[in-house]
Amino acid sequence: MTETDGYVNQAAIGLDEPQPMYKALRESSPVFRSPQGIVLSRLADIEMVLKHTELFSSKDAVDLGNTRPLIPLQVDPPEHAKYRRILDPLFTPREMARLEPRVAEQVNQMIDRFADRGECEFHEEFAVPLPCTVFLQLLGLPLDDLDKFLEWKDGIIRPEGADGFEDRHEASAPVAQEIYDYFDRAIDDHIANPRDDVLSQMIAATVASENRPLSRDELLDICFLFLIAGLDTVTDSLDCFFVYLARHPDHRRQLVEQPDILPHAIEEMLRWETPVPGVARVATQDLEIGGCPISKGERVNPLLGAANTDPEEFTDPEVVDFARTPNRHRAFGGGAHRCLGSHLARMELRVALREFHRRIPDYEIKPGTQLAYTAALRSVESLPLIFGVS
Ligand code: HEM
Repeated sequence: MTETDGYVNQAAIGLDEPQPMYKALRESSPVFRSPQGIVLSRLADIEMVLKHTELFSSKDAVDLGNTRPLIPLQVDPPEHAKYRRILDPLFTPREMARLEPRVAEQVNQMIDRFADRGECEFHEEFAVPLPCTVFLQLLGLPLDDLDKFLEWKDGIIRPEGADGFEDRHEASAPVAQEIYDYFDRAIDDHIANPRDDVLSQMIAATVASENRPLSRDELLDICFLFLIAGLDTVTDSLDCFFVYLARHPDHRRQLVEQPDILPHAIEEMLRWETPVPGVARVATQDLEIGGCPISKGERVNPLLGAANTDPEEFTDPEVVDFARTPNRHRAFGGGAHRCLGSHLARMELRVALREFHRRIPDYEIKPGTQLAYTAALRSVESLPLIFGVS
């Protein structure tokens, strides 16, 4: 999950293949003052910022039309820990494995709709609906609400008529209110009819240090963040991965011929593509990074994509090696706010890639297609794939 303004102008330089831009920034201006904030591209600086939450706050770093801080993203430590203590156990690899058979079913149903056609609009027919369907299932919400959720997610992440940080709140606020209202009703329903899902578990949870349940506002602020954090990010990853695999048939064949390599391949594509290229923080005091003075209140944008290609950590960072080990990429961020949903995302990506390549091992991007990457979060507006039909 990330902020969608701060580094838009930098990302716009190379949305399709941003890695050369990361390298150039790292080598020439590792602490770069842009009109939207200070862009950091050296791994060491990025690690420092993510670690020192007392110096770099997430509190007011993003405005998505929300009326209160998003939980836990916009809550700084130490308060932050009380929420992660409740949420982490709900998103463990073991909990996610329980969802896997159902996700495999949904993935196959989606593939059924286009497998005989010899082509698909991958973004629209697969990358967008999959994470949203999984999310509805996870929270115990009706699958019929899919279209509504997709509209809301876009209304918040890519609001029409918002050119910059200033007009963002106004553009997103009406959609945000609809989301709060929807979850308010969903919470009522789950209180009346508890079931085996994440929302029911959150309602039943206790804030240990205060011996009380989560308040209605806290539940709403968590649900709101889930919607923003959990849908677009997986769509972005699927888009980036399938473009990469369509363009690199040798890597694709490796997945088909050695399915065991899949978990490592996912980590390596997360590193190389970094679908969430950067995050945002606000300096809590006057300070300095790499000789660059930063004033209290200034926005700082650690570029995770640049960290993931920094030769200080990664040998031959420009080589995409599905057997790379170790692979300590920062595609899920770092420090206290490291992605809560990483195991969910990994499971979705694993099932999607496994089932797709099992059924459609050979595909290419429809000739003549001009890929248009969206700014900041790296999805493509459309991804037509063609493949043989057996
Ligand atoms: C491949 C897909 C995903 C990527 C690349 C990704 C990336 C990230 C990143 C970079 C952060 C750190 C943000 C920051 O430090 O400002 C983050 C945080 C977060 N992510 Fe993800 N994410 C993904 C999927 C998900 C999913 C499926 C969920 C579902 C619930 C989720 C929930 C969250 C939450 C709640 C946070 C905030 C954690 C905190 O503040 O403690 N993410 N994610």
